[in-house]
Amino acid sequence: MKNRTYDRIAPLYDLLDWPYEYTWRGRLRARMFEGLSGRILDAGVGTGRNIPHYPKHAEVIGIDASAGMLEQARRRADRLGARVQLLQADMMRTEFPDASFDAIVSTFVFCVLDDDQQLPALRELRRICKPGGTIRLLDYTLSTRPLTKLLMRTLEQMSNRLFAARYDVHTEAYVEPAGLTMVDRRFVFSDMVRLLELRPAEPGDAPRRRSSTAAEPQAVRPQPDGYPAPAR
Ligand SMILES: C[S@@+](CC[C@H](N)C(=O)[O-])C[C@H]1O[C@@H](n2cnc3c(N)ncnc32)[C@H](O)[C@@H]1O
Repeated sequence: MKNRTYDRIAPLYDLLDWPYEYTWRGRLRARMFEGLSGRILDAGVGTGRNIPHYPKHAEVIGIDASAGMLEQARRRADRLGARVQLLQADMMRTEFPDASFDAIVSTFVFCVLDDDQQLPALRELRRICKPGGTIRLLDYTLSTRPLTKLLMRTLEQMSNRLFAARYDVHTEAYVEPAGLTMVDRRFVFSDMVRLLELRPAEPGDAPRRRSSTAAEPQAVRPQPDGYPAPAR
């Protein structure tokens, strides 16, 4: 767990993150909660950047490994008058009973988890998600375009030092082994950030073919790895 890193940077996190948040990241957040209702988990809630976008009538619980980040989230929730329960917990082993949530959202958290933490984290999210529920993950992915890739590799050194984050995370490889089914996957910011929509696998779910079973918008040229083309 990177809670020491995050405890240390918590008071400065929003400031350090500001350029990303206000240029492109902020606008993606509302999309993460569209159509969700009931009991929702914000896994790795951080300083609570998603709080303004929580659906009005939903019951939202935010968990994070870092007490420092949770303190910032609490302040934000108070400032906004938002009703959200905030708990310190490791998303790889929470104490929630099975099938606790209608939906789970996690934004820019899997880029902070090591390779050997991806599967345990996904398994835990599957366990606590209701059958038929929704799991949405928003995260970085390394661009396949040579110049962008080079730029990301350069920025990654700073991100890694500040946020313990990296860009070449392969969360998708663990989706099926975790007992989850890919409902949709798409780039939402060039080919650098992607949104995965998952649900607990059901008997009869076909294994996903490499060419993608994701819902691809019509008249959009698929990328070589099966993603729909990046949104403009
Ligand atoms: C890059 S921040 C993203 C925060 C927030 N979701 C956002 O979109 O701004 C990553 C967050 O994940 C949390 N985190 C890392 N590993 C975790 C774990 N195993 N369980 C719970 N939270 C974790 C960190 O403490 C940090 O707050």
